[in-house]
Amino acid sequence: MCGIVGYTGKEQAAPILLDGLDKLEYRGYDSAGVAVYDGEKIQWMKARGRLKILREMTHDGQILPGTCGIGHTRWATHGIPSNENAHPHFNETGTIAVVHNGIIENFQKLRNRLAEKGYTFASDTDTEVVAHLLDYYYKDEKDPLRAILRTMNRVEGSYALGIIFQDHPGQLYAVRKDSPLITGKAADGNLIASDVPAILKYTRDVYFIQNEEIVCMDADSLRFYNVDGEQIEKESVTIQWDVTAAEKAGYEHFMLKEIYEQPRAVIDTLNPRIRDGKIEIEELGMTDEEIRALRKIYIVACGSAYHTGVVAKYVFEELARIPTETDLASEFRYRNPILDEGTLVIVVSQSGETADTLAALREAKKQGIRVLGIVNVVGSSIAREADDVMYTWAGPEIAVATTKAYSTQLIAEYLLAIRFAQARGTVSEAEVDEMLAELRRLPEHIELLLGNKERIQRFANRYIAARDVFFIGRGIDYAISLEGSLKLKEVSYIHSEAYAAGELKHGTISLIEDGTLVAAVLTQEDLYKKMISNMVEVKTRGAFLLAVTNVGNTEVEKTADYVIYIPETHKYFTASLAVIPLQLFAYYVAIGKGCDVDKPRNLAKSVTVE
Ligand code: F6R
Repeated sequence: MCGIVGYTGKEQAAPILLDGLDKLEYRGYDSAGVAVYDGEKIQWMKARGRLKILREMTHDGQILPGTCGIGHTRWATHGIPSNENAHPHFNETGTIAVVHNGIIENFQKLRNRLAEKGYTFASDTDTEVVAHLLDYYYKDEKDPLRAILRTMNRVEGSYALGIIFQDHPGQLYAVRKDSPLITGKAADGNLIASDVPAILKYTRDVYFIQNEEIVCMDADSLRFYNVDGEQIEKESVTIQWDVTAAEKAGYEHFMLKEIYEQPRAVIDTLNPRIRDGKIEIEELGMTDEEIRALRKIYIVACGSAYHTGVVAKYVFEELARIPTETDLASEFRYRNPILDEGTLVIVVSQSGETADTLAALREAKKQGIRVLGIVNVVGSSIAREADDVMYTWAGPEIAVATTKAYSTQLIAEYLLAIRFAQARGTVSEAEVDEMLAELRRLPEHIELLLGNKERIQRFANRYIAARDVFFIGRGIDYAISLEGSLKLKEVSYIHSEAYAAGELKHGTISLIEDGTLVAAVLTQEDLYKKMISNMVEVKTRGAFLLAVTNVGNTEVEKTADYVIYIPETHKYFTASLAVIPLQLFAYYVAIGKGCDVDKPRNLAKSVTVE
């Protein structure tokens, strides 16, 4: 996730900007840049790679004079990590500089319009359209605030922007919608940033900018405006946290922060691909004819990414009627799979660097098979080598155990399945509309489940001494069980297994003893009865039964000892909701046991060895 900073005051700006960017490193980035007004014009420097490179280029900021500027660490979204795509971005004359965090969803449309008006682009980013739009409106208005307001009316998506205009020396503007932005008042100047740690060294007096609020500042004053351009008053907040706590935005761990970021991550992955009520996956690179010609899909991945593929198998097969096999990348690469014309291989990876997944991709390509990557990290090896890439916009994931990347991978797979079904005529337009409406509701449903965390925490506290936990489900619920079980064992070190509920009695049921916790996932209405039978089987052998089911399925209370209800959604999308309490359960059991949840033992965030 990108980080932005800005400063205007009495001190040299560049060293302060670099210092702020250092504190935002935890957000993840692949390039960085700063722009400073030097008393005559805006000067800038950008560098792909670590901040250290920018520091060396600018002699820790010393070679950039001037007391007003903006800085940015970029986590690539539109366009590969490169010097050209690094921020700040400018209008053609270099008199307006912009840094941006977020995604401009309608950037392609705006880019086309601006190109028609003669604007040329120096980067592949969505941000550059903002610089040109500001230029367009500034020429008309001659007033930065008016130009910003008119630009806000044109852009859709999420943004926190820091802006300087050469014609207005010493003035720094910032605005936000759905991306974080704060501003602080220090002794010798004023600052903006994406997050509190970037400015804590200079001030603890912080204003939290709300959606569609604009801040205009110079060395001595801060003024706030609403979306109508009217000046408004805001109260500052005194920050009590230390820097480390501030990086986690007040959450105790990155894992919890990332669990809470899921509604936003789902929105960012979903919204750019639904336009005017229709699915548009520009990056898919397949015509309807090619989709119709598909005879087989392999979904290949590792760990949690593989688990999303297990969910997707059910959805692809039922919805698009395409035979789909989900395979562990470490198996796929050595088992000589039958890949022929009409096969599509989908590889799924958060990091884009997982060795086995990358090897599976290469194996498929070697056999001339088209590979689609679902990847979170832009410019990663898998993203570069796949024929087509569909990015998940989860932002950087820092906790080793994935949560928000898992959720966004599911969204990408649902969208693909619906798109394929549409092209193949296996679904009606009315069904598509209904599914898209349900997808759009997922973020608010996730919020609702997150709001219920105390109940899950209380339940988790009872199981910190558990020795074994079993997760059971059928169909999609089996896929959810796989993820619930992995989350628990990797962060809490409690032995756990996931079983297809009907399979338990073929051996594993011998492990059920008095008090063994069995988590039953039952979100597929047509399988309720079968699931209840399996629950009774373990209950009669002493199991304590936790059920995760759809709201309204009160029947389950007759069998389960504890029930967590998820909001109603389409039967294909229940994994997106049922996984939330299971993530929270794993997290709370782990912290109850005193485990290092963000960095569990023996695990690495990116597994680059086979
Ligand atoms: C579990 C987890 C891992 C990853 C797996 C694949 O919480 O994070 O199981 O899902 O190592 O990693 P990526 O998605 O980076 O290929």
